[in-house]
Amino acid sequence: MSVKSMQARVNPVYLTAKTAVCLMVQAGIPGADKIVHALDLDNNAPLQDMADAETILGNALVVEAKYRTMCRLIEASGYQTCVDLPCGYTPKAIHMTEHDRNFVGLDLPIVVKEVEPIIRQLAGHAENVSFHGVDATNRTSLKTALHSLAGPLCISTEGMMMYFSDDEADTVIANIQCLLGEHGGCWITPDPEYALQFWGTFRAVFGEESLAKLMMTKNAAQGQSAVTALGNSFIIEPTDIPASQARVEALLAKHGLKAEKVNLGEHMPELSVYKQLGPEQIARFKEAMCHCHYWVITLDEAKEIQTDGLMEEQPFELQYTVKKGILHLSLRGRLDTISAPKLLMVWEEVHAGGSVEGVRIDCARLEYISSAGIRLLLEIQENCSRHIVFSGANAKVKEILQQKGFEKMEGS
Ligand SMILES: C[S@@+](CC[C@H](N)C(=O)[O-])C[C@H]1O[C@@H](n2cnc3c(N)ncnc32)[C@H](O)[C@@H]1O
Repeated sequence: MSVKSMQARVNPVYLTAKTAVCLMVQAGIPGADKIVHALDLDNNAPLQDMADAETILGNALVVEAKYRTMCRLIEASGYQTCVDLPCGYTPKAIHMTEHDRNFVGLDLPIVVKEVEPIIRQLAGHAENVSFHGVDATNRTSLKTALHSLAGPLCISTEGMMMYFSDDEADTVIANIQCLLGEHGGCWITPDPEYALQFWGTFRAVFGEESLAKLMMTKNAAQGQSAVTALGNSFIIEPTDIPASQARVEALLAKHGLKAEKVNLGEHMPELSVYKQLGPEQIARFKEAMCHCHYWVITLDEAKEIQTDGLMEEQPFELQYTVKKGILHLSLRGRLDTISAPKLLMVWEEVHAGGSVEGVRIDCARLEYISSAGIRLLLEIQENCSRHIVFSGANAKVKEILQQKGFEKMEGS
């Protein structure tokens, strides 16, 4: 199996970014068509899960409103460098360099490998563009990617936070706080209110039919990402706005961050996709967007920065032997999207021999497991006749494993 397919197996969520760029073509966003062509997606394959043309239109409306408003807010921040985490396959690098900004694209390695050569060819000022493969839950990967940048950063996050578990969202917020502490600047994101934006858009445009079309959208996103919840403690719930808003603010405050909420309706430019809508639909849509906000998040100087959980991360290391049908693994550091393909490679090799009945994992030096790591462990478990046995796990790792139904723990 190739490295690319190993990466895809441990974290398929990157496929959602292909859907996003295909929707950008539907919305007429400049440059998106060339990217889709270079990705060999002219057939719009990622949109096939949304068979209904109106559902595609509703999604294109959400995507265009988000992309164009975010570009405006990033420019209005006044910061010279835009760090797009995650950058996906959008033409934002091209837009930013045309507007005299530096652009740093961060995403999972599988995305960066594919998007970087395409953008380098399309962007006029390719020297102002850089890309780095990271995992947003992996602080070392983020710090390494940004270490040579001078000056404050405008970090933008569109369409990522909802794919995380509570624990991962918390880790990513701590990581971004750490980056803002080191570099200064701000973090702009529509993600806390993404569900409100979807609900408001679909209700305004499709009225009574909106629920069925929203469900189709949700099923498509869940199918592509292999994530079932699409929500966590950073995401506001449309059914309980005041309480969930307070929860998100408290979460930011815990990390020494504060948010200013920018009204979407007031900052959204005119959209190309309006050509496909009637005047009443447009009026209702604009009104609905006045109830949504994008969040501009900065360090709260009045708060002491919490530093627990910010210890130096250990680099990933894996050792293994096979004895009497049991694969003995010893893991160090973090099992996440970046490191999980290495474990998958070992598993594939050992499993191909056909004699592995069980796995024992020494977790004494394992610091953290992300959803990608869990996804792989579940796959390994499915292919073993005995339960995986974990030993020496720290409290965090133990909690993550137990939440996912791994119960066999020793010596911890
Ligand atoms: C819905 S797409 C959004 C991409 C882009 N911002 C856009 O608006 O089209 C979700 C993106 O999140 C990225 N992603 C998911 N988990 C990630 C992680 N742990 N670290 C970095 N990027 C991640 C995926 O690779 C994918 O590109």
